[in-house]
Amino acid sequence: MTKILHPVAGAVALVTIATFWLSTALSELFASDASVTMIKTAIPWGFLLLVPALAATGGSGFSLAKGRRAGLIGAKIKRMPFIAGNGIVVLIPSALFLASKAKAAEFDTAFYTVQTLELVAGATNIILLGLNMRDGLKMKGRLRPRQRDRSNSAMGVKPML
Ligand code: HEM
Repeated sequence: MTKILHPVAGAVALVTIATFWLSTALSELFASDASVTMIKTAIPWGFLLLVPALAATGGSGFSLAKGRRAGLIGAKIKRMPFIAGNGIVVLIPSALFLASKAKAAEFDTAFYTVQTLELVAGATNIILLGLNMRDGLKMKGRLRPRQRDRSNSAMGVKPML
């Protein structure tokens, strides 16, 4: 059960946060203020999915690790406090602030400063979650390991993955 829950919850967390990020960036770039307001007020509701998904990913990950802390498991564990801290300290407060500013139609300097901060913190979490997913797939042998010493590297061609 935990073996299924873990990658599914991780994927849900990653897709949710990537959806927040993309919908925010695209609406800021191309959509009307009304659409930005709609997206900014919807995002805090998305935390009802994101927060339990992240908690389930971390909890099931620790349970699958069974006390092991070396190698890829250790790298995955080290990333989790950054992912959680980013969420609690930056992403949740920013999303609530931006939703209230958007509702009041206050698209001022404070709005765009916090919006920029939120996009940077969001991108950081997407990268960290993506790295945890990659390492999980590597641990299960579902991703080819990086091959540095293949014969074509002698011809100056860098192997892709
Ligand atoms: C504290 C954080 C985490 C720990 C300790 C952890 C630990 C583990 C362990 C031990 C496995 C091997 C499972 C097994 O042997 O069946 C695994 C697999 C995996 N993990 Fe994590 N993980 C963590 C976070 C994450 C996150 C955030 C994601 C995704 C965003 C993720 C995605 C995966 C995936 C895709 C697999 C492979 C599952 C499979 O192919 O069956 N993990 N993880």
